[in-house]
Amino acid sequence: MNKIVVRGGKPLSGSVEIGGSKNAALPLLFAGILTGEVCVFYALPRVSDVLITLEILRCLGARIRFAEGGAVTVDYTDIRPVLPSPTLTGAIRGSVYLLGAMLGRFGKAYLAGAGGCDFGLRPIDQHLAGFAALGAEEQTMDGVLTLSAEVLKSADITLKMPSVGATANLLMTATSAKGRTVIKNAAAEPHVGALCAFLTAAGAEIEGVDGDTLTVVGGKPLHGCSFTVIPDMIEAGTYLAAAMACGGRVTVKNTDPTHLGATLAAFDEMGATLLVGEREITLVAPDTYRGISLETGPYPALPTDLHPQLATLFAIGGRAVGEGTMNERVWQSRFRYTEELLKMGASLSVADTVLTVRPAPLHATTVRAPDLRGGVALLLAALATEGQSIITGAAVIGRGYEHLEAKLTALGADVRVIG
Ligand code: EPU
Repeated sequence: MNKIVVRGGKPLSGSVEIGGSKNAALPLLFAGILTGEVCVFYALPRVSDVLITLEILRCLGARIRFAEGGAVTVDYTDIRPVLPSPTLTGAIRGSVYLLGAMLGRFGKAYLAGAGGCDFGLRPIDQHLAGFAALGAEEQTMDGVLTLSAEVLKSADITLKMPSVGATANLLMTATSAKGRTVIKNAAAEPHVGALCAFLTAAGAEIEGVDGDTLTVVGGKPLHGCSFTVIPDMIEAGTYLAAAMACGGRVTVKNTDPTHLGATLAAFDEMGATLLVGEREITLVAPDTYRGISLETGPYPALPTDLHPQLATLFAIGGRAVGEGTMNERVWQSRFRYTEELLKMGASLSVADTVLTVRPAPLHATTVRAPDLRGGVALLLAALATEGQSIITGAAVIGRGYEHLEAKLTALGADVRVIG
């Protein structure tokens, strides 16, 4: 997916099936290492971050089979505790989960860099402090981080912030540390809940699931299991935002509306009509919608991974009315997409963590996707704007959106993915 050519200005209508969550799938696939057996995953999204994860596991010794009906079988028996290819691990952020999983299984973990979108600093100090509390020693030489522990021990850990990555990593290692490990100020994102459910299915004992204090009763042997990845709340939110941007009526199917509380509240405040079922949401876009004030935060607040899509809605002249603001409270810097929106004629300014957007007539042009969610936000702007726009650098969007062209085309959009 090198570029996306969009002929915008068409309302959307119809329904779209939401796939498995990327940010749930990555920790689950790495957590399977702890079982040392065969795990079967259903609803794994075929996005590039997942395919790279499978390749990392294969290079470490896993055997992977794509079975009929979309299941993926991963045999973790012969995984070896070696340094994985820095090129592969450097391509995705999720490779940081190797640390928790390998340390838990082998008492040893190696990593030479993790990649991911560029949002300014992406420290892993909370992961490392937690590993140290669980008994691991850390060493960095020639760019390779090594963690080792003779014996893992249970611990009381309080995270400085509810980090998704640190919570998931420490959960994994804690399953191998005898005794009760308590993780306070834990992230409560649905994908952390999914990891807890997976580890429980594999034989772990975890208390406080979906809350901010997780207790792992560690030291129980884990075994292989089958698991269905939860639906991607960010993909669902993105298609609902597309309906707002273009006008029309879109139903997202195979979604869990309880995961999208803050997002649906935002659409409601903007003036959308929402019909919420048990596993689906229909958004009927109003003729025009209001600019509002939003801020991102750890779950259950508005997800940072929907910030660019929602803030872009405020920019679309003829659809948005009045100023909108977005206060980004998770990432130091997630505004690179705004420079590209300016090329389309947007009227906006960034001061510290707050983006202020005023509606302005946008025009079709060529813009570059700076990162996954920023890239898809530019796609929404292009879909809403008459004329031909081109999104270059679109491979980053493929990291998180499956069958993008087919899904948008089914809703009536004119998009062509090239390369
Ligand atoms: N942080 C620290 N120290 C740490 C860990 C995190 O200071 O040791 C800070 C980060 O710098 C950030 C905040 O804590 O300011 C939250 O970071 P978190 O650890 O929660 O993020 P992550 O695990 O690296 C995952 C998703 C991101 C998503 C965030 C927040 C994956 C692979 N990535 O990142 O997803 O934005 O949680 O929900 O799950 C995306 O899908 O586009 C994406 C970037």
